[in-house]
Amino acid sequence: GIVYVNGEYLPAEEAKISVFDRGFLMADAIYELTAVVDGKLIDFPAHLARLDRSLAELDIVNPHGYDEWLALHRELVARNAVTEGSVYVEVTRGNTGERAFEYPPAEIPPTVVAFATNRPGIVDSPAAAAGLRIVTLPDLRWQRRDIKTVQLIYQAQAKMLAKRAGADDGWLVEDGFVTEGTSNNAYIVRKGRIVTRPLGNDILHGITRASLLRFAREAQMEVEERQFTVAEAQAADEAFITSATGFVTPVVEIDGTAVGTGKPGPVALRLREIYIDESR
Ligand code: PDD
Repeated sequence: GIVYVNGEYLPAEEAKISVFDRGFLMADAIYELTAVVDGKLIDFPAHLARLDRSLAELDIVNPHGYDEWLALHRELVARNAVTEGSVYVEVTRGNTGERAFEYPPAEIPPTVVAFATNRPGIVDSPAAAAGLRIVTLPDLRWQRRDIKTVQLIYQAQAKMLAKRAGADDGWLVEDGFVTEGTSNNAYIVRKGRIVTRPLGNDILHGITRASLLRFAREAQMEVEERQFTVAEAQAADEAFITSATGFVTPVVEIDGTAVGTGKPGPVALRLREIYIDESR
C-alpha cells in the first residue's frame, strides 16, 4: 500500500525512519486509529481532538492543523482505495540522532507516519454475531492510560495470554475492578442500565465510548458511569466492548462463566445498530 512519512506518500517498501527516532527507541510517540466505512471517516473530529490532547500531555507540538490532518487521512483512503477499514496515524518526538532520555531541542521536528488499511467485516462482523469470550488479567500498564501512546507491549502480551487461554480477548483488572479491554472499553448491562467505568487517567477515553453514551442517552437508555467488578460482570444481564473498528461487540463469556443467556444480548445488539446508523 501507499503510506505517508513526513510529508511524502510512497510505497510501504520504500518508507524509512531513523533508528534514532524516539518512537522506535522509547515508544515516545502517540497514535490514533479512525475507522472508515463506505470510504468515509467515522468520528474524525473527535479522533483529532484526542490526538491533540495526547500530544499536549507529552509536550509534543502538533505538526499539523485540522485541515492538514483531514486531507492526509482522505488522501490515504483514496490512494489505498479503502472502502471499509481504518487509517492509522502516529506522531513521534522525532529523530534525535542519538539515544538520550532528555527531550531534544524544539527545532527537532516530530516524525509523522500514517497508513490506511482495507479490512471488510467491520459492519458485518462475525465477532459481533458470535459474541466474545473474555478472560480477565491484571492491569499491569503505566498509570497514564488516557494518553494514546504506542507503548502497547502489555496490551499485546495480554491479548496473547487471552488467546492462549482459549479466549478471544482480555479484560484488565485493577484493585478488583475492570479497567478496560486490551484495545477497547468495557461495559455491562444490568436491569436495562448501561454500566461503564468513569473517565480518568486509568483508561483510554474511547471515542466510540463517547459517541455510544451520547446515542444511548438520546435513546432514553440509562447510563451509569461507575466501576464494576469481575463478579458483577459475570452476573450481569449482558456485557460488551467498544472500539473504533469493533463498534459495539457483545461479550458472551467472562472467565468461563456465561454472561446472561450466553448469547449476544438485545441491548448490545440494539446499541450496535444505533451506533452504525448514527455514525455512518
Ligand atoms: N484501540 N481502550 C484501549 C486500551 C484502546 O486501545 C482502545 C482503542 C479503546 C477504544 O477507543 P476508541 O473507541 O477511541 O477506538 C479503549 C485501538 C482501536 C487500537 O489500538 O487499535
